[in-house]
Amino acid sequence: MTKVLGIIGSPRRNGNTHILVNKVLDGARSQGADTDSIFLNDFNIKECDGCHACWKGLECAKKDDMNSFYQKIIDSDILVFGTPVYWYGPTAIMKAFIDRFVYFNCPENREKIRGKSAVVAIPFEEDDEKASLATVEIFEKSINYLEMNLTDVLLAPGVGEKGAVLEKKIILERAYNIGKMLAR
Ligand SMILES: Cc1cc2nc3c(=O)[nH]c(=O)nc-3n(C[C@H](O)[C@H](O)[C@H](O)COP(=O)(O)O)c2cc1C
Repeated sequence: MTKVLGIIGSPRRNGNTHILVNKVLDGARSQGADTDSIFLNDFNIKECDGCHACWKGLECAKKDDMNSFYQKIIDSDILVFGTPVYWYGPTAIMKAFIDRFVYFNCPENREKIRGKSAVVAIPFEEDDEKASLATVEIFEKSINYLEMNLTDVLLAPGVGEKGAVLEKKIILERAYNIGKMLAR
């Protein structure tokens, strides 16, 4: 069974990011996928300081919640990253989460992530899609570097208020269909 893991990087519960990631997961579940999600703000995820203990077969020196997520990531076929644009980049908690993917940047651990599919969902307030360029590029480059496949980038411009994305029927439909197609 296809396993899909949603990663919600907004601190605003039930906000636009949460809604979009949940829609992708709904679509995946409609095809029988097994879905799970992590609301990052509920957890303690410290910044990577590059000690590289994880490259020596040791557990991350940070001893925080990220250690329990590595196995969840490894067990998933598809990762759905969601973050709003915060000052033209991802949120700090999403960036901390991505930084901890250094774990996968050694030959022993790379094979645990290589070939997985990834989707990125990004809501933001400005109407101009260019506001999301730097955020998209961070994901494109990092996912590509890790030898994963970025299959879809879902942008939701023009959504500022909590839940504003619920008015964007076409975007919600696209989110659902992305999940549906991936899990097929
Ligand atoms: C600290 C902060 C920084 C933001 N920076 C931007 C920005 O640079 N460009 C933009 O279009 N929207 C920006 N926004 C608006 C959010 O991207 C927008 O409200 C988004 O829908 C929030 O998603 P959420 O409901 O999942 O938290 C910012 C919001 C906050 C709180």
